[in-house]
Amino acid sequence: MTNYPTLTPSGKGILIEDKPLKDFSKDEIWALLRKYHWIAFKKQAIELEELTTYLSQFGRTVSNDRREGAVLKIDGTKNEEVFLGSGFLPLHKDGLLMGNNVGIVSIFCLEYSDVSDGRTFIVDIENAVNEIPTEIQELLRNRGLEVKPKDQYYIKAADKWYHMAGFAEFEGKEYLNIGFPYKRGDKQSWEARIPGVDEDRFYEIFETLDNIVMDPKYCYYHNWDKGDILLFDNRKTLHGREAFQGKRALANIQVVLE
Ligand SMILES: [Fe+2]
Repeated sequence: MTNYPTLTPSGKGILIEDKPLKDFSKDEIWALLRKYHWIAFKKQAIELEELTTYLSQFGRTVSNDRREGAVLKIDGTKNEEVFLGSGFLPLHKDGLLMGNNVGIVSIFCLEYSDVSDGRTFIVDIENAVNEIPTEIQELLRNRGLEVKPKDQYYIKAADKWYHMAGFAEFEGKEYLNIGFPYKRGDKQSWEARIPGVDEDRFYEIFETLDNIVMDPKYCYYHNWDKGDILLFDNRKTLHGREAFQGKRALANIQVVLE
């Protein structure tokens, strides 16, 4: 397998500009995802339908009444909501509030003009976890996190708390399995708490976590162009997005690995 320079100094994420996604075999993509956890492809000449078909060789694509077939179009037009609007999304894994065990996620940029901000960020949690104080790791491991959906988008009903394990294991390693909270006072897509931990301590814990995982050592920010595809292993990374203004439409396709 070709060795690529990585997008984070910690050794994860790669950028592929010289070869279209569709020229990679399923096995080649798997080998790259296993090693690097995410791949950014620039300005691909591929149709959405072709991409969906390509991805379906990896597993079952998620479809539900929020989607058109396998595709969820995220274009910022639903302004009463945060996720389908243009608000900030803290680090999370896809599927946690949807009841889907999503393995691979693909985000494809359909439209991008006059946009400010709106970068998608993705974190190498495999290595970042080593810097998280043991006490915080233990707290998350023992108590997990409770999350309450605020947007109507989620399939899990709004205004009810749902438990999430702090870590999930894949291939013999543990990975953070949580959605980070919003900053106090921000319009939220979801609310979060750790059972038995008071609010001040909770925000202090997540400030510590934020400072570790959002460090450029572990965190890659993707500047979108039309045609870009971000492909990542949803079990081994966390991702989020900046708030944005302008015309930005992304298609999200998820693959469940069973
Ligand atoms: Fe997401």
